[in-house]
Amino acid sequence: MKKNSFEVRGVTFGEGIPVIAVPVIGNEEGIILSEVTAAKGQTDMLEVRIDAFLGIRDTERVSRILREIRGAFDGPILFTLRTKREGGLCDVNDAFYEEILTLAVTSGSVDLVDVEMAFGEIAERLIQKAHSRGVKAVVSQHDFANTPGSGEICDALRRMYGMGADIAKGAYMPRDAADVDRVLAAGLKANREFARPFVLISMGEYGQMTRTEGEVFGSCMTFACPEGKESAPGQINVADMRKLLSGRHEALMERKNIFLIGFMGAGKTSVSSALGTMTGRRVVEMDRRIEEEQGMSIPQIFERYGQEYFRNLETELLMGLGAEEPSIVSCGGGAVLRARNVVLMKGTGKIVLLDVSAGEVLKRLANEVSGRPNLKDRFTLDGIRELQDARREAYEGAADITVLTDGREVLDIAQEIYG
Ligand code: S3P
Repeated sequence: MKKNSFEVRGVTFGEGIPVIAVPVIGNEEGIILSEVTAAKGQTDMLEVRIDAFLGIRDTERVSRILREIRGAFDGPILFTLRTKREGGLCDVNDAFYEEILTLAVTSGSVDLVDVEMAFGEIAERLIQKAHSRGVKAVVSQHDFANTPGSGEICDALRRMYGMGADIAKGAYMPRDAADVDRVLAAGLKANREFARPFVLISMGEYGQMTRTEGEVFGSCMTFACPEGKESAPGQINVADMRKLLSGRHEALMERKNIFLIGFMGAGKTSVSSALGTMTGRRVVEMDRRIEEEQGMSIPQIFERYGQEYFRNLETELLMGLGAEEPSIVSCGGGAVLRARNVVLMKGTGKIVLLDVSAGEVLKRLANEVSGRPNLKDRFTLDGIRELQDARREAYEGAADITVLTDGREVLDIAQEIYG
């Protein structure tokens, strides 16, 4: 779905390469203005973090510094008062929050305003005020302790749009890589469900992918620091970020790979080999590559190291494939269960889902089930259906194209994909 993208001062939000924002976090005028000067010419936009400004209680000083920043910077300016409860520096009551945000949206010096969703009716009033002044609203939610499930994150974005958000923003703290997956999965889902732009961030070092792969999973904005001003681990400076984003954009435009996904027995191996012959491209069979590299069969890897270890090998392999020659990739049946793998695939290619019924799986794999640790103990119609149902959302959510394979010839399927 095409996003309801929009432009502010020549910068497009919601389409193409994510917009780079540099936060301005100085505590007094001189520092703030030197930060603006340092970021100018490097960043697409500024986020003025007014909660860091010691003069925040003096409305005259706030108005003046906003005017000065406006005078010094031509691109979009986002005004943010990040409250303490959402990870910011300033403890404010409702009345003060409303007063200072009203001042910002009526100042004529800012283009976008961050409004924390938790302010409820106050937030809705502020969004209306912003809109009546031609200021865009970024409605936000930050959780520095947890990462909710992907469904919950999407529900939060939906509520933000309901309140009038032009951009919905969620930022969460991951405890492990699975938490980052939740955020990426929410982005992939939001991309399909919502027409409006969003920003999703998984913070800290774990969450790097959410900052660099926004164009793939849908996040329209990314935060970077000016050269030499890295203030937290994992922060990427503007110049490096710009290079990374344009590299990702080129790979995305080129889409040089074809990834075949689907349940065990869907025909990924045979169809990819037919596609290899048709296109002259190299075929990468993920399972075989992993077996060769580990010097062990898949059942042995599962038995000795467990499924999680095998899934890590899949992720590592996919990370390397982007740099290799254009390929037809036959994926392991469970590879798309991790959202980060889907993002890696989407970043360099097209994902084709080979769909297959449980009855057909039973027929096709009757003599080959021992090599599939996730199937051998459930090799009945009901057992297969149960696993297929559990994976359906991941398969369908990842697919750019779906091809039904029941009762069809391999060549016929390959032609449908290539033709
Ligand atoms: C798996 C599928 C297998 C292999 C591993 C796990 C799965 O690949 O990666 O046994 O969980 O679906 P195929 O789909 O090629 O059999």
